[in-house]
Amino acid sequence: MLNNITIVLGITGGISAYKSLELISLLKKQGGDIHVIMTKSATKFVTPLTFQTLTQNVVVVDTFQSIKYWEVEHISLAQKADIFAIVPATANIIGKIANGIADDMLSTTIMATEAIKLIVPAMNTQMYINPIVQENIKKLEALGYIFMEPDSGMLACGDEGPGKLPSPSAIEEKILSIFKKKDLEGKRVLITAGPTRETIDPVRFISNHSSGKMGYALAQEAVDRGADVLLISGPTNLTVPKGVEVEYITTSEEMYTKVMKNYLAADIIIKSAAVADYRPKDISKEKIKKSGDELILTLEKTKDIAYELGKRKENRILVGFAAETENLIDNAKIKLKKKNFDFIVANDLKQKGAGFATDTNVVKIIDSEGTIIELPKMSKKHIAKEIFNQVVKKI
Ligand code: PMT
Repeated sequence: MLNNITIVLGITGGISAYKSLELISLLKKQGGDIHVIMTKSATKFVTPLTFQTLTQNVVVVDTFQSIKYWEVEHISLAQKADIFAIVPATANIIGKIANGIADDMLSTTIMATEAIKLIVPAMNTQMYINPIVQENIKKLEALGYIFMEPDSGMLACGDEGPGKLPSPSAIEEKILSIFKKKDLEGKRVLITAGPTRETIDPVRFISNHSSGKMGYALAQEAVDRGADVLLISGPTNLTVPKGVEVEYITTSEEMYTKVMKNYLAADIIIKSAAVADYRPKDISKEKIKKSGDELILTLEKTKDIAYELGKRKENRILVGFAAETENLIDNAKIKLKKKNFDFIVANDLKQKGAGFATDTNVVKIIDSEGTIIELPKMSKKHIAKEIFNQVVKKI
């Protein structure tokens, strides 16, 4: 929630300026008090009246009609702001701020504020990757400005690549994360995510359908709550959340080695990876040729990483997952006990929208006393939040 939070929203002249309207609706629903400052070129894309109607606050436009009003207003907005966000931010405004140029209402006000500063660039791809723009971004990041990376895709100018404004809901999330309680500050969290791949021969492997979405959502939540996060990830197509340290692995043996090397420093360990239980006993050096109607592979057990951690747990909090197709609670409770977990998150793979590769999940969180928290179908992001709420309670 953003109750009692004042957001000054700077709008600059980009085609995506209209998306700020949806952002304002989302932020208002969270309780934020929003004040808009527009550059002159922004008013060519959306009228100030539209922003005024949505925010129910006077929209300040860069006109200097009344010097008196301008003098008071730029200082009062600068002081009032808890967060100053520029959405969309053009190369021009980024360049101005980075070089100390304050020649309009927006650049003057941001220069005068001590609020948190969030810049969300949106521009043509070539402009965005231009070394001068990148230098300006780096310079401002070093000064504490928070940047959101633009999305990639087809831009209004016809170019394809990075430069698209992130969705209003992603920007809303970012602002919420800035004001989130940092209840994991000072904690080191180790999260495993994604599948493992067990080699059969140079071209084949055994794996599973894990996309890593659950584990990456946990990493995002932990870093948003102030933790120092190490993600040990199997192969995925996902982008590692900003601020999260990552170590990539392929096989269960590599995951075991990386976890064992890093678990001592961790206060909280979450085992959301789908680790292979068996792997080929012998790895063929050459591609196995097709011959006969059947091929028999002999498999051997892999190391149970969670079980090994459970033995060495001491006062760490250890959270496991169970992906089941039958007897969900019973099977999950057996794993909870055997692996010495504090919590197990049981996914019912028979439920629609649960388990592998979906954006949602349907889970039950079971603690070591057997208490079950049953959650409805929700996004993996919200499930990550619920899991950490339980962990924080336990701490
Ligand atoms: O990645 P997504 O597409 O978002 O999907 C999420 C998920 C379904 C993969 C995830 O939520 C999940 O349920 N992960 C665990 C799946 C699993 O392998 O469950 P399991 O019942 O086989 O293992 C139980 C626990 O022991 C797990 O915490 C697992 O990480 C751990 N384990 C298992 C085998 C092994 N050799 N070592 C382990 O540490």
